[in-house]
Amino acid sequence: MKWYLAAALAGYTQAALRFGCSTVSIQRLDPVVEPGRIPSAHVHQIVGGNAFNATMNGDIGEEGTCTTCTFSEDFSNYWTAVMYFKHTNGTYKRVPIMQNTALPNGINGGMTIYYTQQDFNSNGNQKITAFPKGFRMTVGSPTTDSLNQKKNVGLRFVCLQDKGTRFPELPDFPTKPCKGGIMTVHHFPSCWDGKNLDSPNHQDHMYSTTKDAFQAAGPCPASHPVRMPQLAYETLWDTAQFKDMWPKDGSNPFTLSYGDDKGYGTHADYLFGWKGDSLQKAMDSNCMFNACENGRPLKSQGVAAMNACKAKKAITEDVDGWLKAMPGQ
Ligand SMILES: *[C@@H]1O[C@H](CO)[C@@H](O)[C@H](O)[C@H]1NC(C)=O
Ligand SMILES: *[C@@H]1O[C@H](CO)[C@@H](O)[C@H](O)[C@H]1NC(C)=O
Repeated sequence: MKWYLAAALAGYTQAALRFGCSTVSIQRLDPVVEPGRIPSAHVHQIVGGNAFNATMNGDIGEEGTCTTCTFSEDFSNYWTAVMYFKHTNGTYKRVPIMQNTALPNGINGGMTIYYTQQDFNSNGNQKITAFPKGFRMTVGSPTTDSLNQKKNVGLRFVCLQDKGTRFPELPDFPTKPCKGGIMTVHHFPSCWDGKNLDSPNHQDHMYSTTKDAFQAAGPCPASHPVRMPQLAYETLWDTAQFKDMWPKDGSNPFTLSYGDDKGYGTHADYLFGWKGDSLQKAMDSNCMFNACENGRPLKSQGVAAMNACKAKKAITEDVDGWLKAMPGQ
């Protein structure tokens, strides 16, 4: 009887996407926060569709010719600040990005992207509404300069023993060397006001019911009643080459590209660009992770095609050498 009522309300489904996207570009552009500005304030790693540029308008799913993501209908762009290592000799080196565990081998850098429902187990018997065309949002803010546990819920660092380490989740940078590297995690808000594709601060059209570590979200408030997919990014930073260069005073040598060695300002950006109703189809299905590939219901591609896709660089500057300063800082 209970099951019957649930089915009558919205339909009980268990669907979740977890997939890799290789790096499409590493440069100073930010079409959400600083549209049109070349270069933008700090260096990002971007994954997804190759139309990525300083200005992005219209139906992103119909722009560009390829995507670095496993799901080949996903031309969205996903980005975060990159990480630099600060040597005691005063120079900076970009920390390489490595692929996550349980993804096909050979992915070039990139991020792991999640679209879950209420949690990993179900949609909570409610419709999960895919993002509309033109939708964009950010989470976190590079100007946050104190530890605000409540504000930064879902924005985490993990000190990796190996690629499978998930706990503990830290609110700021690990304070000792991490054998397997560092993972950053960004959980976006998932309750929408139902009206606005964006807002002046790129956040007020959304409301976060996120709890850490993919726990079941709380209910959406009346101001933001529409439950959307729970979007999350994982990025794995390969710190191994710096292990013998850790400062003698024990201070954290890593910094995000906008000059944040505490990690309080960790943030991420999202620009929706799935083709047609492909994301809605996935959220309405019962597919989990790579079982959603090969047309069941999503089209997918292999690692070689993902890695071959690149966005043009709008700025030619060195972001990778031993640099006197991080670009823009
Ligand atoms: C990116 O945007 C700039 C400035 O708006 C433009 O000049 C350039 O052609 C664009 N690049 C691509 C690849 O579309
Ligand atoms: C700083 O140290 C790195 C790593 O050993 C080295 O490659 C770089 O040239 C050094 N830079 C300066 C200015 O000493």
